[in-house]
Amino acid sequence: MRELLYTYRMANVKIEKLSSSVEEEEERGETSESKSFSLAHLSDPHLTSLADIKFPQLLNKRILGYLSWLRKRRFVHRREIIDSLVEDLHITRPDHIAVTGDLTHLGLPMEYIEVGQWLNSLGSPEQVTVIPGNHEAYWGRNWFKKCSMWEPYLQSDTHLNLSRTAKFFPSLRIRGEIALIGLCSARPSPPLLATGSLGKEQLAGLETLLQQTGRQGLLRVVLIHHPPLSGIVKRRKCLTDSQLFIDILERCGAELVLHGHAHVATVNSMQTATGTIPVIGVPSASELNPRSGHCAKYNIYQLKRTATGWEMMMKVRGYSASRKCFVPEQEVMLEIPLVDDSGAE
Ligand SMILES: [Fe+2]
Ligand SMILES: [Fe+2]
Repeated sequence: MRELLYTYRMANVKIEKLSSSVEEEEERGETSESKSFSLAHLSDPHLTSLADIKFPQLLNKRILGYLSWLRKRRFVHRREIIDSLVEDLHITRPDHIAVTGDLTHLGLPMEYIEVGQWLNSLGSPEQVTVIPGNHEAYWGRNWFKKCSMWEPYLQSDTHLNLSRTAKFFPSLRIRGEIALIGLCSARPSPPLLATGSLGKEQLAGLETLLQQTGRQGLLRVVLIHHPPLSGIVKRRKCLTDSQLFIDILERCGAELVLHGHAHVATVNSMQTATGTIPVIGVPSASELNPRSGHCAKYNIYQLKRTATGWEMMMKVRGYSASRKCFVPEQEVMLEIPLVDDSGAE
């Protein structure tokens, strides 16, 4: 099921130049007529501060999370990197930004408020799509009510009039020829676990949206916090109903799956009856951890329709501790081999 099928064409990008500069676009022959859609993907910023937390807020699983923040997380998820990230996104100016969860540490109301203010600094709800991660659902059955604070960034396009019983998810936002399908895998889990699940109702909604947007010929980007493929995170952090998700994508297809949660960069793929789907994870957008070697990154996908389908160029931008800003690191062209009717590669 899980194989690396991509042919990488690595290019060492000159860090003196911005990847979105006019000169580079002209070098690539990218005129305004053939201009692609640029989608930035960032995840796991864990951007909130717990400095003003009150003791009664910690009388549950949160005490463990707070101790982890006190000992480690507040030192590796850095505010200056978050500020630098926003600056960089204002320079690179992608057409849209997808944030795949874990914006908080403990999912407290004060963190939801802080994140709401940060989202406003990042961009308008028209430009930014958010899905929750397991840290938003850290504790309590009613965690989802707090998500209403971010409603403009979570909800489907209102003009689509999607009918469903579950609020928000799966969400559908259409920008040009791109269909952004947002999922919520966040669920409260027992202490020391960070599992997630989608549930039958949401999966049924996903299947419907994939079929509808597939018939419309849109490029379908599925956003999910937990990695849907096995082997990327440990069992205690996994998506428990991942096989049901995979079954649906095998039946309906999709063009791109983006996730977070693992805090490392991964590029995998799923082989389906309708083609090969890239499954891409980004590291935390705020982390600088000399001990683990983790360093903040985010991706920009240049998506362009071609005569035979879609072209996808992945541009990786990473935080440079010496320059104190994000810089271009590499460009990867994803060449997706076609699958014949027999299913053979
Ligand atoms: Fe995370
Ligand atoms: Fe997570």
